[in-house]
Amino acid sequence: SAAEKGGYDYFMLKEIAEQPKAVADTLLGRIDGSGSLTLDEVRIPPRVLREIDKVVIVACGTAFHAGMIAKYAIEHWTRLPCEVELASEFRYRDPILDAQTLVIAISQSGETMDTLMALRHAREQGSKVLAICNTNGSTIPRESDAVLYTHAGPEVAVASTKAFLTQLVACYLVALYLGQTRGTKWGDEIRAVIRDLSSISGAVERVLGTMEPVRKLARTLASKDTVLFLGRHVGYPVALEGALKLKELAYMHAEGFAAGELKHGPIALIEEDLPVVVVVPSPRGRSVLHDKIVSNIQEIRARGARTIVIAEEGDEAVVPYADHLIRIPVTPTLLQPLVATVPLQVFACELATARGNEVDQPRNLAKSVTVE
Ligand code: AGP
Repeated sequence: SAAEKGGYDYFMLKEIAEQPKAVADTLLGRIDGSGSLTLDEVRIPPRVLREIDKVVIVACGTAFHAGMIAKYAIEHWTRLPCEVELASEFRYRDPILDAQTLVIAISQSGETMDTLMALRHAREQGSKVLAICNTNGSTIPRESDAVLYTHAGPEVAVASTKAFLTQLVACYLVALYLGQTRGTKWGDEIRAVIRDLSSISGAVERVLGTMEPVRKLARTLASKDTVLFLGRHVGYPVALEGALKLKELAYMHAEGFAAGELKHGPIALIEEDLPVVVVVPSPRGRSVLHDKIVSNIQEIRARGARTIVIAEEGDEAVVPYADHLIRIPVTPTLLQPLVATVPLQVFACELATARGNEVDQPRNLAKSVTVE
């Protein structure tokens, strides 16, 4: 009913708008007065966590994209090797797992059969499983050794939005908690990241306030057949997520690529007026990546692409090559997906509407996939 949608036309719009609160709620109560993480829910004893020598993440769809981003954070903050695997592929390749492996299963619904079968397989091999889940008491957390709940509230639209942002927050918390427990990350640095995370909710809010040009742009692309998405580092999974949203909602051919792969093949796809969305890393910090992506934008534009550039406020280097420029607030590199994903959600939702598609219930899809 209209009341359930809180005045929005679709649940998806309501859920996109709820993201600042969902992010803040997922952080709430998980940091103590001294700035340390208190993830009491992670009931795997610190002694066991200290002996872990590898992290493996299993998930499907959007949750898999959150896992891809988590890998960057976990390896950076804990120096533990981390693999990310599609849950549907995982057990069929006879993965190497033992009691020193921490498996993280990410699932909004907690009922995805592929993810459930992957975690059962991991536990049979003696690994500890930590679930990151949005649904209290669902099957995946019940069958895991521990669970960190995301506090997005119920997500009704088939296309995942707020659950994704909160999965990212939970992944960052787990990465920092592992760092804290294993002694690779302490006090000041954790406090600094937590501070950055706490202000991210406001940054998401600000992005939401600047989406009208994105909606307008989406409407002009309604008759296109293909949209490509490019990103690097944590922007690569963001590009994949942008493409997935567009497939699900607009039923358009959409593909995400790592920008560095362009020259290894995908650049052959570029033709006159093809829309290409590029997620640009911050020019601060890893400026090498920034410069490389700017030359990618230059290259594809020279070949006729219509460039839609998502870049930090103040990043002037992209301006000459952007046919459309979408600004996002300045954030630390690892956290950028929390703001960069939002315009892609709005873009896909508006394209779906412009194409006359059912936003909350896309054809052929179910909210949770309980078959293998
Ligand atoms: C996202 O928009 C999708 N509808 C889908 O990819 C989803 O993320 C996937 O099926 C996993 O679901 P889960 O998080 O409930 O396990």
